[in-house]
Amino acid sequence: MNKPSAHIFVIFGASGDLTKRKLIPAIYSLFVQNLLPDSFALLGVSRTNLDDEAFRHNMKTALSEFREIEDHTKEDEFLNKVYYQSVNTEDVNDYRTLKKRLQELRVKHEISGNAIYYLSTPPSLYGVIPKNLAAHKLNDESGGWKRLIIEKPFGYDLASAEKLKQEILDSWNENQIYRIDHYLGKETVQNLLVTRFSNGIFEPLWNRNFIDHVEVTSAESIGVEGRGGYYESSGALRDMVQNHLLQIVALVAMEPPTSLEADSIRNEILKVIQSFRPIKPEDVKSVAIRGQYIASKVKGEQLIGYREEKGVAQNSTTETFAALKFYIDNWRWGGIPFYIRTGKRLPTRVNEVVIHFKQTPHFLFKKNGSVNSHNQLVIRIQPDEGILLKFGMKIPGQGFDVQTVNMDFHYSDLSVGRIPSAYERLIYDSMKGDSTLFARTEEVMALWKFLTPILDAWKSEKDIPLFGYPSGSWGPEKTDDLIEGKMMTWRYPCKNLSDDGIYCEL
Ligand code: BG6
Repeated sequence: MNKPSAHIFVIFGASGDLTKRKLIPAIYSLFVQNLLPDSFALLGVSRTNLDDEAFRHNMKTALSEFREIEDHTKEDEFLNKVYYQSVNTEDVNDYRTLKKRLQELRVKHEISGNAIYYLSTPPSLYGVIPKNLAAHKLNDESGGWKRLIIEKPFGYDLASAEKLKQEILDSWNENQIYRIDHYLGKETVQNLLVTRFSNGIFEPLWNRNFIDHVEVTSAESIGVEGRGGYYESSGALRDMVQNHLLQIVALVAMEPPTSLEADSIRNEILKVIQSFRPIKPEDVKSVAIRGQYIASKVKGEQLIGYREEKGVAQNSTTETFAALKFYIDNWRWGGIPFYIRTGKRLPTRVNEVVIHFKQTPHFLFKKNGSVNSHNQLVIRIQPDEGILLKFGMKIPGQGFDVQTVNMDFHYSDLSVGRIPSAYERLIYDSMKGDSTLFARTEEVMALWKFLTPILDAWKSEKDIPLFGYPSGSWGPEKTDDLIEGKMMTWRYPCKNLSDDGIYCEL
């Protein structure tokens, strides 16, 4: 792998959580692997009053707490390239100080005009910072490239996303913008492309003729963990479905790209998202389920309900669980249901895609008391990354009894060492100018458009239930009714419940 060209990496929101948990550990990890340019400087920016030394000290603590790579011998060398500038990002005049500081760093580290601005701030600043940067020509590419990395959520709904898009595109070009969806940085999510398009055996089956339905699950055992304030304005649909889950669906369902060029892949992603069948407002009640976790005892421990969380209204109707059934209206997927579900305080942390294949046309072994095998290809995104194929085998002995067995591949069996974090991969790509794994404006808009009927109905139709579900359960029982077909259910990755309750290990 070659190094990106020299640049300054500016993090807005440098005193925030993401910077210390994810960004700095990821950039340090690139440094240790010799994947940063020789001329490089990182400038942390936020409102908090700090000097370089204090910021370096904080980042050193962060590196020991949120380590991504074993080697910590290069921390001081790395931190020598790290600086801090206090800026009131809402005040356009303050960008003069920022501009001056950037200039000093350029001279000191012999860096031309290249810069990346990473917006790890509250979303309310996603429009303001690009505008203020542009007011001081800090977006000007005549002396070197300028890139803007924007965290999610990009907007709150279609209207606000459109407005934000306009605000940014007034002074920036689309090709300067890198909208981050950290799920696209996960190895196993990228592996969806490799599994599908590097093997001759899957693609011929990957369509409505052989697949019965597709299921995507993203379960978390944790609650909102002190993020109640943010989560109140979000909910599971905005927090997980609008981005991570539907991006995964897009990779599962897209047509083969003609090349690995960013545009080639992103065109296919957009095309398939645009084929999601619009949900009619009157159907929302039957195709979308929402839930909220309630106080309950798990593994002997009393856990509070969502409404008792800090920053959450006592009568909050924000969903912490969402499940959805929808169709993709195109040649490949016509009539095949896609089911997705996500929730907090579910029994375990698991992200997986399950391709449920159709059953054989004739149940040859039924008279022996065996049910035909229900073939599933389970793509485990995390944890225990890997791929599992379930198929039927004869039970040794008399007769023709069939048993479902597993062919199970674990990523950990590959002797490649550590798997880079999603942020490490995406930050490196942005430094290289590779936007393949970043969401394009039209994609984000199409996803908001698709979810609008549900967002609207959940907001205004009081008779659509918000089901309470106990922590440690798989969400509202009603979710089971979404699945079509008597023989089919959601896959429950951990059915073996512990004696004392509902929690389980994978
Ligand atoms: C974030 C959401 O985007 O993804 C969080 O805001 C969620 O609510 C997180 O917990 C899950 O990410 P991961 O990588 O831990 O699956």
